[in-house]
Amino acid sequence: MRYDMLVIGDLNVDLNLIGDGVVPEFGQGEKLVDDASLNLGGSSAIFACQAARLGLRVAFAGVVGDDVFGRFLIDTLRDRGIETEHVRVRPSVKTGITVHLVRAGDRAMLTYQGTLALLDAAHVSRKVLAETRHVHSGSFYVLPRLRPGLPSVFEDAQRLGATTSLDTNFDPSGAWAGGITEVLAHTDVFLPNEQELTHIARAADAGSGGDIDAALAWAAARVPTVALKLGAEGAAVRAGGETVRCAAYPVEVVDTTGAGDSFDAGFLYGFLNDWPLEAALRLGCACGALSTTGPGGIAAQPTLEEARAFAGLA
Ligand SMILES: Nc1ncnc2c1ncn2[C@@H]1O[C@H](COP(=O)(O)OP(=O)(O)O)[C@@H](O)[C@H]1O
Ligand SMILES: [Mg+2]
Repeated sequence: MRYDMLVIGDLNVDLNLIGDGVVPEFGQGEKLVDDASLNLGGSSAIFACQAARLGLRVAFAGVVGDDVFGRFLIDTLRDRGIETEHVRVRPSVKTGITVHLVRAGDRAMLTYQGTLALLDAAHVSRKVLAETRHVHSGSFYVLPRLRPGLPSVFEDAQRLGATTSLDTNFDPSGAWAGGITEVLAHTDVFLPNEQELTHIARAADAGSGGDIDAALAWAAARVPTVALKLGAEGAAVRAGGETVRCAAYPVEVVDTTGAGDSFDAGFLYGFLNDWPLEAALRLGCACGALSTTGPGGIAAQPTLEEARAFAGLA
């Protein structure tokens, strides 16, 4: 197998402005922030960087514009050792950008979709699906052309012997629909946070109530492994009728951007290497926690040795 992971999804720049207690003000109000950085962004891309940092062989499929941001993103992926031959450069559309307004323990985001809207399931060849052990996709709801084709991409990947995972992230439209049950039918590992899972289960099945236990039961009936992210409360995983929990590791948080994506990569590292559920969950929580100790999504992502030592995994 050429790759451990093929990651299909969002690749954009993040402009992170960090300022405790700073709230933007229209009416031409200008305020000073504590720090600013331009970073590789996109849930899927941040995930790919953490997976590569852990030593997995990763290929990325996405779209960027023919502009300074697009070149920066391709260079950053390559610097992490990620294969970029499936990243398409489209000259007619600008690279997507998200502005993150970060304050202690919270974030608000503004996104210009740009090339994110162009990623199409047809870009993912059966050849590359046959070359990977695992396929991951992130940000289901902000990729309108990928979404309808993703169920068949996952189905083909499974038929070719790969496992699949999905982190939908937030739905800015508030609809939480668009074929999620179809893609979950071909998903081996589902990685929502509490808010996302509650919205998804409620939208898909009005009878599921709306509380997190009902939502988790709804997901576990569809996907063999559900890893539920609980922010500063840590995470839980449900698989084979068993539920395992992990408290968050205490850290000095600088920026929580991408914590969920780094968690996903750590958990899936354990999953792909047949680790016991609890060890995989702890590696995920360690990657999530450590990733928050630096600005942006990828600067503080740990290596395998760093994450294992931090989580006390022998
Ligand atoms: N403030 C924090 N302190 C320690 N760990 C954290 C913190 N925020 C996130 N994490 C770790 O990162 C994981 C993923 O973060 P979370 O915010 O739940 O994901 P998402 O970004 O998808 O909402 C959590 O399960 C936790 O282990
Ligand atoms: Mg997330």
